Amino acid sequence: MKNICVIGSGYVGLVTGTCFADLGNNVVTVDIDEKKISKLKQGIMPIYEPGLEELVQRNVRAGRLNFTTSYEEGLKDAEFVFICVGTPSAVDGEADLKYVRSAAQSIAQHMKHPLIVINKSTVPVGTGDWTAEIIQKSQPNPIKFSVVSCPEFLREGSAMTDFMSPDRTVFGSTDREAAEAVAGLYAPLKAPIVITDIRTAEMIKYASNAFLATRISFINEISIICERLGADVMEVARGMGIDKRIGPHFLQAGVGYGGSCFPKDVKALANMALTHGMHPQLLNAVMEINDFQRKHVILKIRDLLGGSLEGKTVGLLGLAFKPNTDDVRDAPALTIARSIMNQGGKVKAYDPVAMENVAEELKGIILCQNPYEVAEDVDVLVLVTEWNEFKQLDMKRVLGSMKQPFLVDARNMYDGEKMRGIGFTYRSIGRGYDGAGVNAIPANGLPAIPAEKGAE
Ligand code: UDX
Ligand code: UDX
Repeated sequence: MKNICVIGSGYVGLVTGTCFADLGNNVVTVDIDEKKISKLKQGIMPIYEPGLEELVQRNVRAGRLNFTTSYEEGLKDAEFVFICVGTPSAVDGEADLKYVRSAAQSIAQHMKHPLIVINKSTVPVGTGDWTAEIIQKSQPNPIKFSVVSCPEFLREGSAMTDFMSPDRTVFGSTDREAAEAVAGLYAPLKAPIVITDIRTAEMIKYASNAFLATRISFINEISIICERLGADVMEVARGMGIDKRIGPHFLQAGVGYGGSCFPKDVKALANMALTHGMHPQLLNAVMEINDFQRKHVILKIRDLLGGSLEGKTVGLLGLAFKPNTDDVRDAPALTIARSIMNQGGKVKAYDPVAMENVAEELKGIILCQNPYEVAEDVDVLVLVTEWNEFKQLDMKRVLGSMKQPFLVDARNMYDGEKMRGIGFTYRSIGRGYDGAGVNAIPANGLPAIPAEKGAE
């Protein structure tokens, strides 16, 4: 049993602290956001993450998990302190480290005994050394400490599982003993352990996220080529993914990636390259393709409406950047909604859990209580986030309430043939000519691929 302090009770800090408590450690989570801490003390979760609430309550009841805004209280018995504060993008894409700086300074000012300080937030390569310098300079009296980089690989919506069953755990430090001590906290998970230096550990995180984002932009570029050549990107991904060297994951074409990690981390890595004299051409292309994919969906919507959104109403199914989260940071739905409203259109939307966060972000959007209300009197319905509850809708009822029969499937979630059979004019991403289906008549009049024999 160890005494652990976690700074930051956001999507990463709260999951990390709760899971460490569940492994039998004593955990105190510190956050500067008083509202967040008082909610947590009343058992109210500040974020939506499947399985989190039950684990928080169980560990609070067991007395292993506490919340405070005081660094003094948080560090009192701590042997380890995890920094899990936000590292948002600054203007030129560089990670903004002001919160990491302030957390490091507060740790230095309040620590009363030797500590192992662990950077879990995604921080640019070299930040570990920088954190050590800040602590050194901010201590009123020198007290021994070590800094370890321990990047997180948690996906929102499956963070609890990802914590408890990681593919690997990575630790970087100049103090090997400290790295091994942190690795000891993860030992019960029995996952492969990588112990290396700080810069390499920090780079493993960025390179992993950037590679996953690259896979997504790759298949999205292929999806556009499929629309020009009449192929089906979902079948292409299936055929590719069976190859063990490629694998089936992160090959789902759609409106592209969003969230608080991929966009920020790819930008930050490209910025690190640039500021060290290297032109990150592949990373730039990954970002460019991802930006274009949202525009591609907006163009599809506009084309279905004869080229103008003026006075038209568009319904969005889903607002979160992915299913099973309430996080709307850099969510494709927000880009799409803003663009439609800027072009004189109206936007109705529904999301199972993310609507509260959108209301703050997007004035003027009409939030509905369920997907059927979204569909009422809209000109186009767009599936943006592939929530399970959108998979088995009564689509005849949906179509019957719409003003026009246009359905844009930005995550290729529906069966195009089925939707057309119901009466929708269905568009998707990369599934044949212009995403209208591999047997549709191509935009440029090329002969459509003859339907399979006997399909008539
Ligand atoms: C954070 C980083 O943004 C991301 O780079 C990394 O990959 C994982 O950790 P996240 O947990 O999503 O991601 O951040 P957020 O949800 O914004 O939570 C950060 C928390 O830190 C907030 O609750 C904020 O109030 C708190 N905080 C911020 C502090 O407690 N002290 C500070 O000085 C600043
Ligand atoms: C990601 C990484 O997966 C995780 O390891 C890291 O710690 C944080 O960033 P997250 O952003 O929470 O996790 O979700 P993820 O499931 O990776 O999806 C990221 C985005 O990519 C979402 O917008 C999702 O819709 C999109 N995506 C994912 C695709 O468009 N296609 C895919 O095949 C997979």
